[in-house]
Amino acid sequence: MKSVKGIILAGGNGSRLYPLTFGISKQLLPVYDKPMIYYPLSILMLAGISDILIISTKDDTPKFKKLLGNGELLGINISYEIQFEPNGIAESFIIGEKFIANHDVALILGDNIFHGPDLISNVLKAKENLIEGCSSIFGVSVQNPEEFGVIEFDNSDNIINITKKPNHAKSNIIVSGLYFYTNDVVQYSKQLKFSTRGEKEITDINNYYLSKNKLNLIRLNPSILWMDMGTYSSLIQASKYFENYEKKTGNKIACIEEIAIKMGYIDQKKLLKIAKSMSNSEYGKYLLNHVLK
Ligand code: DAU
Repeated sequence: MKSVKGIILAGGNGSRLYPLTFGISKQLLPVYDKPMIYYPLSILMLAGISDILIISTKDDTPKFKKLLGNGELLGINISYEIQFEPNGIAESFIIGEKFIANHDVALILGDNIFHGPDLISNVLKAKENLIEGCSSIFGVSVQNPEEFGVIEFDNSDNIINITKKPNHAKSNIIVSGLYFYTNDVVQYSKQLKFSTRGEKEITDINNYYLSKNKLNLIRLNPSILWMDMGTYSSLIQASKYFENYEKKTGNKIACIEEIAIKMGYIDQKKLLKIAKSMSNSEYGKYLLNHVLK
């Protein structure tokens, strides 16, 4: 069986967060104790996806390289490509064509945060669906569906359509920023026309698979946290959530080094090296005292 490749899209100019993002990429901003991108990266790692492409802007790509390198320290492969203009989420598959080669692919947006019970088993379901030639999206219930891709259902709960940012949402279930596609997504993305807002739309990709009867919707339970980091408040809310979680349980979420050892990507010796390099910080101390055996 061919492995599934992973893409993290971490471009855009973060204009909704100005002036926070004048000097730094949105996806590098802190969420509690770590850069935002650790959260989507951890989802891919936990799903057993260890060959990962990070796509960002020309200015920001060197900063991601500085942060994560080629992934060797985490026992995974990380490569990089530039998106010169924010031409749409679906452009990821064109930029990533060589990287994807003949594999299926998972895409996660670098500003999307997921956490909660059974999340990873749901993600693994999406991975399994690929074996049957079926792509998957993850639906979440929100109070402001008009800001996202909204899913419309018939009376039997089958998807009729997905509409991008409608004036009047037909449901409060939206498409979150994690998608699993069969390899033909590359070819389809190339054929895709730019929308009126000048983007290759991920919603068009989803409607394409829907029309072929090859789209599986995985509805995430309301106990799973999903947020996209689009506002100042969401940044603070997410930070508080992860701080509280750690206070309550003693565990960190999206600690990529801890995940690397749990998944068998690295051994204790490698972890000790990483932990020592940040032993001055609480994060490093957590690795030394909590994760290392
Ligand atoms: O966050 C989930 C939503 O993301 C989904 O519910 C929608 O179906 C999907 O269309 C998308 O919403 P937006 O269209 O509003 O995406 P936005 O422009 O906010 O971009 C999402 C992230 O992707 C953001 O961090 C910037 C990055 N991005 C976006 C575009 C268009 C890129 O890196 N390059 C791009 O070309």
